[in-house]
Amino acid sequence: MKLSRIVSNQNGVSRKRANALIATGRVAINGHLCRDAQQDVSEFCAVTVDGKTIQQARPSRYLMLNKPAGYLSATIDDTHPTVLELIAPNLHDDLHIGGRLDRASTGLLILTNDGNWSRRLTEPVVKIPKVYRVTTEHPITEEAHRRFAEGIWFEYEQLTTTPAQIENIHEREARVTIYEGRYHQVKRMFHAVGNRVTSLHREQMGKIQLCDTLPPGQYRPLTAEEIASV
Ligand code: URA
Repeated sequence: MKLSRIVSNQNGVSRKRANALIATGRVAINGHLCRDAQQDVSEFCAVTVDGKTIQQARPSRYLMLNKPAGYLSATIDDTHPTVLELIAPNLHDDLHIGGRLDRASTGLLILTNDGNWSRRLTEPVVKIPKVYRVTTEHPITEEAHRRFAEGIWFEYEQLTTTPAQIENIHEREARVTIYEGRYHQVKRMFHAVGNRVTSLHREQMGKIQLCDTLPPGQYRPLTAEEIASV
C-alpha cells in the first residue's frame, strides 16, 4: 500500500494532510524517515508518525521444509495429510506454498506468508532455476537432452517450455534444471520423450538449497541471505 494511504487511513487525516506530514519528514518506515508519499509499504513494515506507531509490522515467515512423500502441497484437504500439518500451529498464520510439489515428490518446499516474495520465486517470467533429482523408468537418452534443451511443447498451455538441462548421474537417474514451475512439469517433459519419472526430489530453488541435515518432515527458517537471494 502507498505510504500516503497508510497515513491517511488514520482517523481524520486527509490525503493532503498525509502528504504534508510525509513531505515534512514526520513519517518513518522501520525507523527511517521517508519523504516519498508514493512509496510502497508492505504489511511487514512498521510505520510511525512523529514516533507514534500507526502500522505494526506483521511478522514475516519463510520456512524450508524437507517434504516427505505422501503429503499434499496444500494447506487444507479432506482426504490426504497436508504439508501444513508438519508445521507448528503457532507458525501457520497465512502461510502458503511457494512452488508446489506433487504428493509423491519429495524435497525442498518453501512456505511463507509473504506473497510478493513468493511470486518472485515462482512466476515463470522470473526464470529462477529449480533443480530436481529424477529417476526414470527407461534410460535417459541423448534425444531427451536435446529435446529438453530445445524446449518442449505443452499443448494444454500452448507454449514451449524454457530450455532445460539434464545432467546424467546414472543411466536412469539425472539432475534436471527447469526455469518454470508448471503443473507436473518434469513428469510431462519426460513423458513427451517417451520416458516416465519414477521418483522426483527437489534439491534447489534459485540459490536456496535443501539443507543436507534436515530430515524428511522437518523444517527450518530461511536465513536472511536466503531470503534476500530471491
Ligand atoms: N515437476 C513435476 O512433475 N512434479 C513436481 O512435483 C515438481 C515438478
